[in-house]
Amino acid sequence: MNFELTEDQAAIRDAARDFAESEIAPSSSERDANSEFPFEIVKKLGELGFMGMMVNHEWGGAGMDTVSYVLAIEEISKKDASVGVIMSVNNSLVCYGIEKFGTDFLKEKYLTPLATGQMLGAFCLSEPEAGSDATDQKTVAVLEGDHYVLNGMKNWITNGVNADVYLIQAMTDKSKGYKGISTFIVEKKYDGIEIGKKEDKLGIRSSDTCTLGLNNVKVPKENLLGEEGIGFKIAMETLNGGRIGVAAQALGIAQASLEAAIKYSKERKAFDAPISNLQAIQFKIAEMATLIEAARLLIYQAALNKDQGKKYVKEASMGKLLASQAAVHCALEAIQVHGGYGYVREYLVERYLRDSKITQIYEGTSEIQRIVVARELLRGG
Ligand code: CAA
Repeated sequence: MNFELTEDQAAIRDAARDFAESEIAPSSSERDANSEFPFEIVKKLGELGFMGMMVNHEWGGAGMDTVSYVLAIEEISKKDASVGVIMSVNNSLVCYGIEKFGTDFLKEKYLTPLATGQMLGAFCLSEPEAGSDATDQKTVAVLEGDHYVLNGMKNWITNGVNADVYLIQAMTDKSKGYKGISTFIVEKKYDGIEIGKKEDKLGIRSSDTCTLGLNNVKVPKENLLGEEGIGFKIAMETLNGGRIGVAAQALGIAQASLEAAIKYSKERKAFDAPISNLQAIQFKIAEMATLIEAARLLIYQAALNKDQGKKYVKEASMGKLLASQAAVHCALEAIQVHGGYGYVREYLVERYLRDSKITQIYEGTSEIQRIVVARELLRGG
């Protein structure tokens, strides 16, 4: 087993790190305070190939592997987890599905602009009454001539306010249960799209999250992704990869928390010495680092399996489960190391805690990840 990065992977990690330090970090606190979407940063990320990292060159993507993607998301999320999720949703939840299931027509029309940052994408599975139980879709799509007509309500849509294109799951045949769900590519400019309220969130405040109303939205027949009835399969496969992205985002938050705790503990003096001399602090640092390394190895394993065409459902869920746990734990401990200073905005650790919590909720809660892992084990996976 070899976890040595290739030259290309190390170069991508370094490029992401440089970009995050110079272009993302300086304005991250201001964006968080004002819930301000990072338009310029997203545009530059697109130009650099970070918005369609795993998309084939043929469609304008960077043609990189999943390990490189994980490295880039970690570096970017270390400086701003909001930017991390904007990027992760576009790459994993939108580009992946179009590339895997779309026709060449759809790839040319949507994938290339999405992969190059000319368009932004969002993924619409959740509904007010269909969260963890994602099969219970109430949104319907009815074929009328050369169009489908979509009606319903979607929520918790990351990038929803600023996206140009939505991947929407809807029921085309309710009698078939989840086998009656289909996926559509829907443009924001279509009549009948109603962008609902932007959520006022605890963390990742400079990424936008909203509800989306669909009122008799006419979607051209050719915008059906794949075929009727495979929408749930598309959503689940998409989320398997998405969970690797969220795991990498969580890893970035955890790593940033650890680095902040180490730095502060060496600077802050108490009882005539840096607090890093105290065993109470050293134990925290050791535990944080151990959890982070374990999560990192699991995520690399999931990414490597995906790149090698092996099964990675269990590993992706395990990686997300552990990395999100690490993010919350490390952010809390980093605050504890900072004492009162950790509780105020001057130091970044309070944001790390606010940003960390969502990683245990979106793209499948930690409870759903446990279900996925258990099912894979019980069926011998
Ligand atoms: N990968 C591939 N296929 C899967 C799968 C997976 N991880 N999980 C289930 N499936 C397939 C099953 O094989 C089955 O298909 P077949 O009958 O053809 O074999 C089908 O899906 C139904 O599966 P189940 O019978 O297991 O369905 P269930 O209802 O018992 O459980 C679930 C399904 C695992 C709970 C699923 O609903 C789930 O993952 N829920 C969480 C949804 C989620 O992650 N939502 C996040 C929304 S995105 C988001 O967060 C917003 C954002 O913008 C970031």
